[in-house]
Amino acid sequence: MSKGYATRMLSLLHYALAIPSPAIPSFPEDEFGTPPSPEHSPRNATYSTLWSDVGRDFYRTIKIGRGEESREGWIVGADQEVRYELPPSNEEEIGSTSLPQGWRSFHSISDIPSELLNTLSLRTLITAQEQTSAKTLAYDAPTSPGLLEFTITRSVRFTPAVVLERNGGAIQHVYINDSTVPPSFLVLAPTYTPNEPHTLKISYLSLTPVTEEATRQQFTDLFTLLYSRAKEYSCTQIEGWQLPQPLIDAWQQWTRENGGKLISHVREEHLGALAWYGAGTPADVEMVGGQL
Ligand SMILES: *[C@@H]1O[C@H](CO)[C@@H](O)[C@H](O)[C@H]1NC(C)=O
Ligand SMILES: *[C@@H]1O[C@H](CO)[C@@H](O)[C@H](O)[C@H]1NC(C)=O
Repeated sequence: MSKGYATRMLSLLHYALAIPSPAIPSFPEDEFGTPPSPEHSPRNATYSTLWSDVGRDFYRTIKIGRGEESREGWIVGADQEVRYELPPSNEEEIGSTSLPQGWRSFHSISDIPSELLNTLSLRTLITAQEQTSAKTLAYDAPTSPGLLEFTITRSVRFTPAVVLERNGGAIQHVYINDSTVPPSFLVLAPTYTPNEPHTLKISYLSLTPVTEEATRQQFTDLFTLLYSRAKEYSCTQIEGWQLPQPLIDAWQQWTRENGGKLISHVREEHLGALAWYGAGTPADVEMVGGQL
């Protein structure tokens, strides 16, 4: 699809989604002709989120409306990422296959009861509400099975045969520690893209706080789990998004003792962005949830 056509399609999409209001510039008929027909246009959304690899410059070109009254469409929000590059090692070296105490693994999201996913989703929202000063939150449920499955599905295509053989033909994607209520929960997506390092992506992480004395151990265990899975799945780096600071501290500690490199960066692919159609300015709205 050429970028010109994509820009046009995405600009039109705002007019298929956004609730009509004075906040939405009039439809640019000069450029686009007649507006999208109502049967393809629910026009019932106060916001929309876009997750895409097209890049932030492209997002900026997709305005709502044209000319002086035009306003910004999708604005990139979640893009802070941490990457840990494992120290170089013998290819044959495989991490411990046993999980740290308390953790169990599952192949897929469909093995997990939906009530648990809903509980964790709600917790993400409540935590965000406690931490933000934004007036409005635009929420993308991070544990919706569709979102979680998508992240896994987009990453499995090039899984090397040796990795699958080593793991009995399937990768364990979901990890639960139910020593707390609700359990701690982790979703991993090993990704194998041609010409790029094999990367273990932390697709979703929800940690239930433990007592203060146990916190350090909790994060060390979690890092051990990630490290051993990276080794088992032949990944040379681990990537995570909006991770808790104590986990980053535990990684830093590990790096000092064992080598490797920890890098914070702003990611340029699979950027999450929010288009706000409601009253007020987009600056008053914070995007919460989403996916890696
Ligand atoms: C908007 O309309 C679509 C199509 O009818 C429907 O699937 C969706 O649930 C509606 N969304 C809201 C927020 O009402
Ligand atoms: C996992 O469970 C163990 C013991 O069962 C506990 O010590 C540890 O803190 C738990 N970790 C997390 C992240 O919940």
